[in-house]
Amino acid sequence: MSITVTKLSPACGAEISGVDLREELDAETVAAIRAAWMENLVICFRGQDLRPDDQKRVCGYFGQIGAYNRPKERQNPDHASDTIMLVSNVKDDKGRHIGAHPDGEMMWHTDTAYAAHPHMATTLFGVEVPDTGGNTLFSNQYLVYDALSDALKQKLAGKMAINAYEFGTTVKTFAHYDRSKVPHHAHPVLRRHPETGRTTVYVCELMTEEIVGLSPEENEAVLSEIYALQRRPDFIYAHNWQVGDFVMWDNRCLLHARTDFPREQRRLLRRVTIEDAAEVMAA
Ligand code: SIN
Repeated sequence: MSITVTKLSPACGAEISGVDLREELDAETVAAIRAAWMENLVICFRGQDLRPDDQKRVCGYFGQIGAYNRPKERQNPDHASDTIMLVSNVKDDKGRHIGAHPDGEMMWHTDTAYAAHPHMATTLFGVEVPDTGGNTLFSNQYLVYDALSDALKQKLAGKMAINAYEFGTTVKTFAHYDRSKVPHHAHPVLRRHPETGRTTVYVCELMTEEIVGLSPEENEAVLSEIYALQRRPDFIYAHNWQVGDFVMWDNRCLLHARTDFPREQRRLLRRVTIEDAAEVMAA
């Protein structure tokens, strides 16, 4: 198959056409997709018709499928899976949500940053989408690193940040999670991407609790400065969902967030992640 790559924004994002993901992909096509992905950080294939097994097969071309680690008691037992998470506001006939993160905005984050081995990539497949809103936003963390002042780059060199998360939280309206109850892990603030070798910023508003070794006042000032850069419109691609979109992004160099959408409109995205074969490395 020969693929066509069309950039979706100056910040990041590309649409890949010429591929039917229901078919087996040969090694050359997978290599071309991987190269386009590394260059554009988030890739989208439109008009796909993927069953869960197709989505898992496609993820398998790029790495090992990630475990869905939300506690079982927080999943709908009729829709629980070890590898597939539904992101959805749809309810079953017992009135229970079939998936996670049903409604509203989501703050900037990168998936599983609270774990020792965060997932390399996340994929979402659009099954049902609202008429308006519910866009997934992607912020390019290479550009955020490049935009840091030299003084801040120096201050952050070698620093670790503690990332914590309470499952289900989409907007953090309080200062700290109770770390005795939630998964948390320290990772380098400045991260070396294992494939591109470039430096990326690895903190986010939803999960980062503190940069170790900075005073509370310094933490507040430094994290606010970084978060403001992460929200810069020229660093962001906004994905406006269509049914049949398959989107795959690189969690090592992107943050993502979600815009609000009308609660009465159904939204159902199917999520499968890919594990990271490499350790998280400091830049
Ligand atoms: C997620 O962050 O897991 C979901 C993003 C979305 O609903 O657009």
